[in-house]
Amino acid sequence: MKIVAGNSNRALAEEISSYLGAPLAKCQVRRFADQEIFVELQENVRGEDVFVLQSTSFPANDHLMELLIVIDALRRSSAKRITAVVPYFGYARQDRRASGRTPISAKLVANLITHAGAHRVLTLDLHAGQIQGFFDIPTDNLFAAPVMTRDIKERYSTDNVMVVSPDVGGVVRARALAKRIDAPLAIVDKRRDKPGESEVMNIIGDPSGRDCILVDDIVDSGGTLCNAAEALLAEGAKSVTAYITHGVLSGGAVARVSSSKLKELVITNSIEPTAAVLAAPNIRTISIAPLMGEAISRTALEQSVSSLFG
Ligand code: R5P
Repeated sequence: MKIVAGNSNRALAEEISSYLGAPLAKCQVRRFADQEIFVELQENVRGEDVFVLQSTSFPANDHLMELLIVIDALRRSSAKRITAVVPYFGYARQDRRASGRTPISAKLVANLITHAGAHRVLTLDLHAGQIQGFFDIPTDNLFAAPVMTRDIKERYSTDNVMVVSPDVGGVVRARALAKRIDAPLAIVDKRRDKPGESEVMNIIGDPSGRDCILVDDIVDSGGTLCNAAEALLAEGAKSVTAYITHGVLSGGAVARVSSSKLKELVITNSIEPTAAVLAAPNIRTISIAPLMGEAISRTALEQSVSSLFG
């Protein structure tokens, strides 16, 4: 097995490599003066089972292009099997035509990865499970839930915990976590009765006196999360913590979360945390390296990956 890392998340790649006890393959990703990406594999990969680690996080287009070019270099160097390991799959929120004359960019990205030469994909908490079907190659969608469950059980008396989905779209994910920790579930239902009117947050469930745990796949601007936290506290919640797989945290999101009423935002390292994230008083990162490493190892050994989540 060989592991090749792009530049999107070197720290995670190093952690995965040490979990597997396999060094990162020598591969140089350089830029020409006009910023075109150039890749050179500096060791033989002929006949090898290669795993390419790259999150297509900010800057999404650069990281995606880098992934495609690394896959192309591997294919042309006769790697036997290429698995694109994409802990954060960018463009996933464009998974349907929200209105006329718009693209389905998640499908386009799936096509690009496949046509570049990937034989398999390994990813984590896809925004929508159906995106797996956008690929015509085997695609394993891992879940951060076991890692989050462990962290929650270490910190909370689960008797008083209530899992909350910050919107109706996230109910399946939140229910799965609630089941794991044997906690009740609540849902924040956002409604805007007329265009231009402000959104009303209705909470389905009773959070009063509870330690609420908001669960979602992505925190981007932080709006969904901070608004949900306010609504839960207004309904008498004792505390609100959030467990979110992908800390996209664009623009002023870190400042927004830091000054919010969230007790803590826990994210995984699927996206490399920025200096601002690391310095934020109420944001903590937990590692998915052992989970990804184990899934890579099982893929290489042709063992079951789904049994990791049984
Ligand atoms: C939406 O469907 C996603 O699951 C997240 O709730 C959303 O992307 C979060 O975005 P933001 O942090 O900008 O509210």
